[in-house]
Amino acid sequence: DTPLRDLADAQGKVIGTAVTGSKLTGTYGEIAGREFNSLTPGNAMKWGSVEPSRGSHDWAEADRIVDFAEAHGQQVRGHTLLWHQQNPGWLTNGSWTRDQLGAIVQDHIATEVGRYKGRLAAWDVVNEPFNEDGTYRPTLFHDTLGQDYIAQALTWARAADPSTKLYINDYNVEGVNAKSTALYNLVKSLKERGVPVDGVGLQAHLIVGQVPSTLQQNIQRFADLGVDVAITELDIRMQLPATEAKLTQQAADYKAVMKACVAVTRCVGATVWGFTDSDSWIPDTFPGQGAATPYDENYSPKPAYHAVAEAL
Ligand code: XIL
Repeated sequence: DTPLRDLADAQGKVIGTAVTGSKLTGTYGEIAGREFNSLTPGNAMKWGSVEPSRGSHDWAEADRIVDFAEAHGQQVRGHTLLWHQQNPGWLTNGSWTRDQLGAIVQDHIATEVGRYKGRLAAWDVVNEPFNEDGTYRPTLFHDTLGQDYIAQALTWARAADPSTKLYINDYNVEGVNAKSTALYNLVKSLKERGVPVDGVGLQAHLIVGQVPSTLQQNIQRFADLGVDVAITELDIRMQLPATEAKLTQQAADYKAVMKACVAVTRCVGATVWGFTDSDSWIPDTFPGQGAATPYDENYSPKPAYHAVAEAL
């Protein structure tokens, strides 16, 4: 079979995977290097990973992934600078004035974006800023800095690396709904204000048989605002055990997602959130569910793998 990355390259599209740095050897490393033209660190670049105690950084796993990507001619998507989860205890347990937290956030963004300056294709600057109803999620950042924390973060990221694409990333924003419309209105207003925003990430943690019918229309409306769109964390979960029927439906779903992206010029491509069921967050987070990725736990390609190839 032609590797997915060769098919994607021929379309000018990204096919990426989230990876765990420590696993990038053996079969896992061979598949990651052969099949994908983009890598996203699944956890290694999160604030809690890189600055476990204040002022003391650990870049080992993130560096390992970026080095692997460069050795294999792959892009890297940085993930993520500001999120309400996986933050260091010193940050979340502290009590900060607005000025103090602003300075801490600015320093974090300058330090992390600066470290990888010129080496990352994109950064998820802000992750999951919205509630399902389209209101802002009440996070440490939102509640202390005010809702303009997103514009500030983008501006600081641009200053630290003018060459990387700056994204806002969220889940349940794949179809047209209240949450994606809030994201749309935010991006529209940021563009009107001249705030640097280059792209929108649709995580796409989907359920078998439930690809939103408005996916392509939604991608297109963001593209029409003048930003790129990326499918950033694609997986399609099912109730276990996996059956042939569910895996067949899953393949059709993967194909539909890929086709929606291929159909829109400004959809840069898709990243799967782990390429193998042995490296997927789903069973830990959604008990009883799993089998969400294109390869099974023994690194055999599933129908979903072939469906992605067919869509490219
Ligand atoms: C997940 C990782 O895959 C897990 O290993 C970790 O335990 C929790 O976070 N949305 C995101 C990702 O933006 O960062 C999350 O990754 C999955 C949901």
